[in-house]
Formats: sequence, C-alpha cells, structure tokens
Amino acid sequence: MRGLLFRRTRTIEYRDDIPDPTVELPTDAVIAVTRTGLCGSDLHTYEGRESARHGVVPGHEAVGEIVSIGEQVAHFAPGDRVLVPFTTSCGECSPCKGGLAARCEKGQLFGWGDPVNLTAPALQGGQASMLRVPLADGTLVRIPEGTTDAQATLLTDNLPTGWFAAERSDPIAGEAALVVGLGSVGLSAVVSLLAMGVDPVFAVDPVEDRLARAAGLGATPMSPGDPALPAGLASVVEAAGTSPAQAFAFRSVRPGGTLSVIAVQTDDHFPFTPIEAYDRNVTVRFGRAPVRSVLTRLLPLIEEGRLRIPDDSIVTHPAEPLTEGPDLYRRFAAREPGLVKALFTP
Ligand SMILES: NC(=O)c1ccc[n+]([C@@H]2O[C@H](COP(=O)([O-])OP(=O)(O)OC[C@H]3O[C@@H](n4cnc5c(N)ncnc54)[C@H](O)[C@@H]3O)[C@@H](O)[C@H]2O)c1
Ligand SMILES: [Zn+2]
Ligand SMILES: [Zn+2]
Repeated sequence: MRGLLFRRTRTIEYRDDIPDPTVELPTDAVIAVTRTGLCGSDLHTYEGRESARHGVVPGHEAVGEIVSIGEQVAHFAPGDRVLVPFTTSCGECSPCKGGLAARCEKGQLFGWGDPVNLTAPALQGGQASMLRVPLADGTLVRIPEGTTDAQATLLTDNLPTGWFAAERSDPIAGEAALVVGLGSVGLSAVVSLLAMGVDPVFAVDPVEDRLARAAGLGATPMSPGDPALPAGLASVVEAAGTSPAQAFAFRSVRPGGTLSVIAVQTDDHFPFTPIEAYDRNVTVRFGRAPVRSVLTRLLPLIEEGRLRIPDDSIVTHPAEPLTEGPDLYRRFAAREPGLVKALFTP
C-alpha cells in the first residue's frame, strides 16, 4: 500500500511498497482509506516532544470503506463507509460503558507503537491507503448519510475533541468563556461553546489567520498579550499545548471556575502551583477525548441541525496527495499562514 512512515524526529517518508494490512484477529476490520487527517497531535512525535516507534505509519484520523472483516465482526460488512475514532475500544469494559472509550481496557492508539519495547506490536496509523482496525464492532462508526469525507474526518477526532473540551469547562449559557489556541481543536471548541449557548466566546492565538477563522465562526478574537483580554472567566479551554498558553489559561479562570485542558501538554511540570489552584478553588480537567463515546451524543445533534460540522472554516487543505506528506508535516509544524487542517486522499 501507499503510506507515510515516521522515520525519526522531523523525518516523514512517503512509500508505495508498505505491506497491505490484513485481518489478523476475528474482531478486526480492514478499510480502504479515502481521507485521513494531519493533526496537532502528530507534531508531538514529529518535533520530538513524544517518542513513537521508528518506521510506524503515523496518523490517527481515518475514514474509508471496509474491504474485509474478521469472522466475529457482527455490525459491519465490506462496503460500509466508516469513520475510525483515533483510539480503538471494545464497547464492553467499564471505561467504555462509562463513556470513556479512549481509556478502554483493550484500547490502542493508532499510529504510535511502543518506541522501547520493539517486540510489542505497533498499531499502524491512518496516513496510508489501507488501515487495520482492531475491535471493529466497538470502534467503528458508520458515516451518516450526506456527510462528506472531509466532514467525517473531523468526526474522527477534532470536532468531538473540541466538544468534549467545551463540556468539561462547565460552560454556562449566557456567560463568557475563553478558548486559548485556535488550531482545529480550539476552533472546534469555539463552535461547541457557541452551540452550548455561551456568549461571548473569546478566542486567543498568535496566528492572525486563525483569529480570523475564529471570528468567522462567531468568536471574539484577541491576540495574546492584548491588554483588553478578559480575566475572571467561569470557563476556559486550553487547546494550545504550551506552558505559556496553559499559564495564561489558568490565570484567566475566576475563583471557582473551570479550566479544561484538552491539549497534550508535554512539559514536565504544570505552569501553576498547587497552592495557586487551592487559593482560587479552580477545577482543572485533563485528558484524551473519548471520541467513540462523545459521538453517541454528537451525531444526533448534527442530524437535528443543532451543530454544524465546520469543515469549511477549519479544513484548509481538503485533498492533498500522500506524496505531499513530508512537505505538509514541515509546513504545518512551521504554522504556515493559511494552513490549519490538511487532509490526504491516499
Ligand atoms: N485530548 C485529546 O484527546 C486531543 C485530541 C486531539 C488533539 N489534542 C491536542 O490538542 C492540541 C491542539 O491540537 P490542534 O490540532 O488544534 O493543533 P495546532 O498545533 O493546529 O493548534 C495549536 C494552536 O495553539 C496556538 N498557540 C501556541 N501558543 C499559544 C499561546 N501562547 N497562546 C495562544 N495560542 C497559542 C498555535 O498558534 C496554534 O494555532 C494539541 O496539543 C493536540 O495534541 C488533544
Ligand atoms: Zn488528531
Ligand atoms: Zn473497552
């Protein structure tokens, strides 16, 4: 198959001779990938803040068509159009049943692979023309009628992740909230907070173009350091992933308010102290979004027209060839103006 390989820090390679995945377990499905996303999370390994198995296919946002299934897969069949949440889930364990599919006891993350234990199998990622999906029944989601591949790709991670972040900031309808960091996840949090009735939604990012996109979605854009930046907010979402951004987000919460950190923070320490958190009675939440669980409440809202998938505001590069992968990683890491969310058509 065709695909990208993570070679080492800042080195992504395109290949057209990667072995095709096959059904290895009776609960597997294999899909032909029709669209796959490049995410801010891919930059953690690309830039060396997180380690991943050298030689793994990266990427964790894939949609496509099922080409084969194992004999125990009951709810899907070859030919089904499906989206793949970025972690696998069994649907039966306590975290899965409790709405935290991202922490399924049998779950795996696509596209990483243990960098230390080289004999442990690595679950290949989605930036390729084919993908093996373990625990297919508990993981896959059928793509709703009328949903494009680009929209479905946002449903594999960024939109439900932004929604989860917004929910966990304890938003109050009619009151203000703040989103720090306006990549695809932060912009999705903006859309979600607005849909939850929050007003106004302040949005902060150093990149002009991303501020303009947040404004287009209905937020009030502000540059970091703007003296007019509001403090004392009930709900703050941090979707940037840097210590300065998290420190700023923490300081913006009012006593008794909530900071929802959705970014993956790779620094060793919190940029605030326990006593600072104590002194302000701040609730701080962290963690991976359980996309499969969140979609059970999000898809009905989308179907009823109460939430729009904002692909036109977020996806700037909807159909790039995989051969452009090495270059797009470089340009995305450089925060090239006009490049927010790139999708590949393998
Ligand atoms: N928790 C989850 O399940 C989950 C899922 C997907 C992504 N993520 C994480 O969410 C984060 C955002 O992902 P993305 O795809 O939107 O990434 P991205 O890199 O496109 O966006 C990050 C944004 O933060 C902005 N930023 C940097 N420093 C800032 C500062 N000091 N103040 C304000 N903004 C600042 C950048 O300019 C950029 O626009 C990443 O850390 C990613 O790993 C988490
Ligand atoms: Zn992602
Ligand atoms: Zn489970």
